[in-house]
Amino acid sequence: MTLLIDKAEQALRVKGEQLNRRWYPEYHLAARAGWMNDPNGLVWFEGWYHAFYQHHPYSTQWGPMHWGHARSRDLLHWEHLPVALAPEGPEDKDGCFSGSAVVNGNELALVYTGHKFHGCPASDDNLYQVQCLATSEDGIHFNRQGQVLDTPAGLHHFRDPKVWKEGESWYMVVGARTEDTGMVRLYRSEDLRHWHDEGVLAVAPQGMGFMWECPDFFTLRGKQVLMFSPQGMQAEGYSNRNLFQSGSIVGHWQPGENFVQEVAFQELDHGHDFYAPQSFLAPDGRRIVIGWLAMWESPMPEQRDGWAGMLSLPRELTLTAENRLQMRPVKEVEAMRQDFSSWSAQTLDNQALCVMDHCETTEVILEWDRVGSDAEQYGIALEEGMRLYVDNQAQRLILERHYPQFGLCGQRSVPLPQTAALSLRVFFDKSSVEVFVNDGEACLSSRIYPDQRKLHIFAWSGKAVLNESGAWYLK
Ligand code: FRU
Repeated sequence: MTLLIDKAEQALRVKGEQLNRRWYPEYHLAARAGWMNDPNGLVWFEGWYHAFYQHHPYSTQWGPMHWGHARSRDLLHWEHLPVALAPEGPEDKDGCFSGSAVVNGNELALVYTGHKFHGCPASDDNLYQVQCLATSEDGIHFNRQGQVLDTPAGLHHFRDPKVWKEGESWYMVVGARTEDTGMVRLYRSEDLRHWHDEGVLAVAPQGMGFMWECPDFFTLRGKQVLMFSPQGMQAEGYSNRNLFQSGSIVGHWQPGENFVQEVAFQELDHGHDFYAPQSFLAPDGRRIVIGWLAMWESPMPEQRDGWAGMLSLPRELTLTAENRLQMRPVKEVEAMRQDFSSWSAQTLDNQALCVMDHCETTEVILEWDRVGSDAEQYGIALEEGMRLYVDNQAQRLILERHYPQFGLCGQRSVPLPQTAALSLRVFFDKSSVEVFVNDGEACLSSRIYPDQRKLHIFAWSGKAVLNESGAWYLK
């Protein structure tokens, strides 16, 4: 263990004991203490799922980035491992930024961005971002191999390498910015150490952002999906409401050819808090994606408790025949289900009913009969702070949070699907809610900060018919 990693571990031991756990997740990954942002290096290696993440062990604010590390057998119960990378080389002296992991023979290789300023950090002109390599045989201790790709001439923002294997070659996409235009650049290598420039894979058209962060590029159903996190897209109606977005473009690509785009940018998640998603292949071939369940510059009330930021539920990503991306919670969540309490089929008539006294580590299942429901609003409410409901006038499904004491108020929503029944799976953890609509058609994820946890079902101004519904306690 290097000096800086040892120092980080000591700080985490002390701070970890002082956490207030009232909002600390039970089945999502969060840092032991301190700050967390993007998921990094998601990979399956020798029987374990590994998740790394952007981490500042010394405070609940973003700072010089380390890579936190945890592993899991089932993607839900995580074991914390020592910090994997600390900013200690000349190549990454100001931070080990986001990146990815690949298995190379019997080695686990991390490819990440070394973030550094040459001179005063007040100006982007002094910023350099280079791609670096670290390798490990045991998947726990990493040997730094230093810089493997320099900043291209004229660029400063050049980060978040995502590496994959295609035939005999390694490929890598890197997010970049020239002037005020985001883009994704492509590289190829035979050994992870020498990278050849393969040109620009995609560039932001007008209005699509000044920087594209965290690119990822993979195949689903024979199509290529470019997933990325654009900064600088304008909000438009109900779309792009968060400070930064994340989503994907579907198209067609082969090595040596251009990426031909077929379907325009689709947002991946419609809640308040989902950013910098990264995907990886599970050993059974599933494409799994995890995002940061937070948003830049949004208040994070858990900072007063000694930690900040968490990762989303792992979701299986699929592509429909119409080239729409769908996300569903990985099937492993079903093994956590205990003690189903059924609320049975019922009709609510301008009323609210308490269905749970303590909705905390819970999966709620709801099926609303839309044809038989004429109420203006119907749905569920977790105390006064969170509501998930159908707005029959707007014809939208609305996720609303109202925590004025923390400056977290507002709505996110999606259009109602054109189906007679609306089925919802809603995952609550201590400070999060993730909603999956009609088996993956849409998804909304937000942070919530309840102090009491009574759950009601309600229908106002009319009737609402609830088919099979109830809740699982998750263990
Ligand atoms: C995305 C991001 C990445 C960067 C990292 C720094 O949230 O800005 O582009 O590598 O966070 O922590």
